[in-house]
Amino acid sequence: MGKNILITGGAGFIGSHVVRRFVRNYPDYKIVNLDSLTYAGNLENLKDVESADNYSFERADILDTERLKSIFQEYKIDAVIHLAAESHVDRSISDPLAFVQTNVLGTANLLNVAKAYWGDDLSDKKFYHISTDEVYGSLGEEGLFTETTAYDPRSPYSASKASSDHFVRAYWHTYNLPVVISNCSNNYGSHQFPEKLIPLFIHNIRNKKDLPVYGKGENIRDWLWVEDHASAIDTIFHKGRLGETYNIGGLNEWKNIDLIHLLCKLMDEKLDRKAGESAELITYVKDRAGHDMRYAIDADKLASELGWKPSIQFEEGLSKTIDWYLENDEWLEHVTSGEYQKYYEQQYDLR
Ligand code: NAD
Ligand code: DAU
Repeated sequence: MGKNILITGGAGFIGSHVVRRFVRNYPDYKIVNLDSLTYAGNLENLKDVESADNYSFERADILDTERLKSIFQEYKIDAVIHLAAESHVDRSISDPLAFVQTNVLGTANLLNVAKAYWGDDLSDKKFYHISTDEVYGSLGEEGLFTETTAYDPRSPYSASKASSDHFVRAYWHTYNLPVVISNCSNNYGSHQFPEKLIPLFIHNIRNKKDLPVYGKGENIRDWLWVEDHASAIDTIFHKGRLGETYNIGGLNEWKNIDLIHLLCKLMDEKLDRKAGESAELITYVKDRAGHDMRYAIDADKLASELGWKPSIQFEEGLSKTIDWYLENDEWLEHVTSGEYQKYYEQQYDLR
């Protein structure tokens, strides 16, 4: 039997990969992409699926209750995969309330509309909330985040995501709303807005601009290829147990500075530059306020219970990612014109 699935934030980085995967792999499902198209939302990300019969786009804000109600009714939505969010930690430091609005109030609003629309008929319904490993805080040299690690968010972004996770669990416990949550580590891949480390540095290396490394570059992140995240979301959506949380990660920890050196080496080779040329662009800048030191995920529950594992090694994924950005100049040009310049100058103190 088909399903009518509302995917929020489908024009963003991860959302566009999830939309593409579901539209292509499940022709019997109707996929409705709901996105307000903030600076991070870009319909160019979905050109290859926009004319598919099982796909529709609705430009709407998750804070707009009336629009949400009418979209649920029009498409008879029976499942939600919720990705819409403000997602960049640096922006949350300069404008925390925007994160409270979308990530906290927006999620609560969406939960409320789903609950009202589904009423008592909760069979075959699902509200799948996509979250982050940042809700668990920051690790020291040892240890991994598990699903039972206590929440300890430390940036306005992670505090807003933690809050949204709590609302989702509250709707499960209080109203029996059928929910599932996943918390994933850092994603990389095509179509990521060039404010995040990897696409920003690819863009800057390409244009021979400084590579602004925060602090000493010793912070550690656990990187996962975005298409592997989309495949994990597919697995959890179909097989995950209601009320449960699943951590998603790549068992792939990198110190920022080591990752940046690998990126510089691969780009020197691809751009036919002399070895070491791109690394000369590395510039140490003021650290991010409250910069979390280390994230690392234990994804054992997802592997042992649902049989998911990542498909690709990091160096191969990074190489494919660089190739995509080098081949998609036009995409980069579109997203880095206009407002982007203002953000860049302000964030990196260039004015
Ligand atoms: P993104 O910033 O690339 O995309 C967010 C999308 O949400 C955009 O298309 C934007 O237009 C849309 N949006 C924002 N506010 C909205 C609103 N009020 N109403 C409707 N649409 C709105 O983000 P991303 O990196 O693709 O992240 C997607 C989700 O995954 C987020 O919930 C994020 O917290 C989570 N996540 C991201 C990562 C990562 O590494 N990027 C890792 C783990 C979890
Ligand atoms: O862990 C999952 C999270 O990963 C997601 O929930 C977030 O949405 C996503 O943005 C990401 O958060 P990070 O803050 O880890 O990602 P970002 O790419 O911004 O930074 C990665 C690391 O690189 C971090 O230690 C900060 C550092 N950095 C980042 C930028 C943008 C720099 O040194 N210089 C930079 O210019």
